[in-house]
Amino acid sequence: MSERRLAAQTSMKRADTFDIGSPDVGPAVDLATRGQIHDLVVSFYRELIMDDNLGPVFSEVAEVDWSHHIPLLIDYWCRVLLGDPSYQGAILDAHRRMHDLQAFTAENFDRWYALWIITIDHTWSGPLAEKAKAHAARIAASLARQLPRIAWEPTQLQTGTRGAKGDTD
Ligand code: HEM
Repeated sequence: MSERRLAAQTSMKRADTFDIGSPDVGPAVDLATRGQIHDLVVSFYRELIMDDNLGPVFSEVAEVDWSHHIPLLIDYWCRVLLGDPSYQGAILDAHRRMHDLQAFTAENFDRWYALWIITIDHTWSGPLAEKAKAHAARIAASLARQLPRIAWEPTQLQTGTRGAKGDTD
């Protein structure tokens, strides 16, 4: 991953107007190991906490304990992508609790999803990278449908839905 910060390159608000430039040179890597998934999760949250829209949701509303949250999210994505059973949480319940504290907005979903796609496309590619994008689109849409008072669908960006079949929450 480049030292260049994605956040500086993704300061525009509209999901469909992002341009983060060319990916780093080097062979494309997929998300096939726990180490690669670790790097993705850390990169994603490093951008997310710098984001004007999402940063406060995590730092001020959720007051997230990163030493707990990051390993949890690595476990989650290892379950989704590698079939590793270590994540045993209840994702809808966790977001319901958050939504009760301060309702998520469609813009929160736009930003979360855009940052996820951009972060992956910047460094990773292959069937599992596509699966990570497709899975996020599906879960984000599912959360938005199940939480009250949000209307959101992942129509803003192309996800490349290869590998999405058979995903489970
Ligand atoms: C608007 C979009 C989203 C926002 C603002 C958001 C925000 C949050 C927040 C604040 C937490 C609680 C963190 C904590 O207290 O430690 C959380 C937990 C979590 N989020 Fe999200 N989230 C979003 C979408 C998603 C999506 C689309 C996924 C999966 C594809 C996801 C996966 C998770 C997981 C696995 C957890 C941990 C749940 C647990 O406690 O077991 N989130 N999220």
